[in-house]
Amino acid sequence: MGAREKMRPLFRTLDGGLFSQKAGKADVGDAAVKMMAEGGIMMCWADPFYPDRVIPQKVLERSVEVIQQGAACHYTAPIGNAELKEAIAKKILRDNHIQVDPQRNIIINPGSDVGLYFAMTPFIEPGDEILVHDPSYPSNFLDPQLLNGVVVKVPTYEEDNYRLRVEEYEKRLTSKTKMVLLSSPSNPNGRVFTREELEALAEFIVRNDLICVCDQAFEDTVFPEHEMVSIASLPGMWERTVTVCSCSKGMALSGYRVGYLFADDVIMDVLYATAVNVQGAANTMVQMAVIPAYEDSSFIQEYVAEQNVRRHYAYEKFNAVPGVSMPLMESGFYGWVNVSRLGDSSEITSYLAQEAKVLVNDGKFYGNQGDGHLRIIYGVFEDRQKSLEGIDRICAALAKRAAALGITE
Ligand SMILES: Cc1ncc(COP(=O)(O)O)c(C=O)c1O
Repeated sequence: MGAREKMRPLFRTLDGGLFSQKAGKADVGDAAVKMMAEGGIMMCWADPFYPDRVIPQKVLERSVEVIQQGAACHYTAPIGNAELKEAIAKKILRDNHIQVDPQRNIIINPGSDVGLYFAMTPFIEPGDEILVHDPSYPSNFLDPQLLNGVVVKVPTYEEDNYRLRVEEYEKRLTSKTKMVLLSSPSNPNGRVFTREELEALAEFIVRNDLICVCDQAFEDTVFPEHEMVSIASLPGMWERTVTVCSCSKGMALSGYRVGYLFADDVIMDVLYATAVNVQGAANTMVQMAVIPAYEDSSFIQEYVAEQNVRRHYAYEKFNAVPGVSMPLMESGFYGWVNVSRLGDSSEITSYLAQEAKVLVNDGKFYGNQGDGHLRIIYGVFEDRQKSLEGIDRICAALAKRAAALGITE
């Protein structure tokens, strides 16, 4: 019997990583590596300004300093650097309107993907049902299953810009429902859920005595006309919510691998008890280096302003292609583009790799409601022109396909 046969049934079905032909998560895999080597453009990695060096000077200087001083070669506490947690607590108060005890309610993770999985572990028992809005971040569909939970997809619909419909949650509620998983703002469609939507969902969660894990990896990328509301700040939610955050998206420091989660004392005590065994400590150098970025995050506004220019460009360009549509994105640095009239989204993803030499994400990776869509990261490259050129290349290829199909509007 091979090693795979000895695995739990779900794990036996998994494939992924750079050496796989059929990586489950859209943004890793052999295709991406080959494409890069051949000079293609990667617009499939949710990594702002990739692959260019965009790093606040103060973070750069602190990184070097920490290495030179020697602190970098030692552990920090597994729960995180105390000074970093002080700075993050101030951000949580300012942006999430929640007062936390920095040393009690925050844990630093090596990136928010780890935090997301870690946040779920105390709660999911075999057979528990987890409600996940669809479309959503792929980890929200896989992680609960890795813990022997059952994912129940809750559809959201393009026709009302993917509003969270509580009636769809109600319909799927059973005696086994344990948790609601939220990607807020939502990756892949950039939705910034309104206060009203989140209040209605929070009321549902409280009334049914559920747990909420809320991934706010994109919270710092919200465009100014939208309000970012943390569900943990709503009545009755604090004691039942774990909120997961990151410096990868808003601060464009994905390579630093710093994320954090925050929650009530009761939950944190359990996570602290397991942290040292499960995640160990996050990297000492990067934790110390991001402290100045959390102390003064004003540089993020420039990033949002840059992505704002790109989102308007993408909006104009994609909507001008016959058979293609895209909403004006509410957050993030990517477009969520409906190409369903031009054919199957997997085929179009491959077509764009061939015809435009641009890699994008097939919407199917984000759930059933992602079918017929592409996620296109226009936030890549520091140089705006290079990113806009990528959009132009995709649009030209899509227009060619539309013309071949006789679609004119
Ligand atoms: C919604 C969402 N959550 C979490 C992550 C993980 O980010 P990181 O582990 O870099 O913090 C990503 C990365 O793409 C994401 O899109």
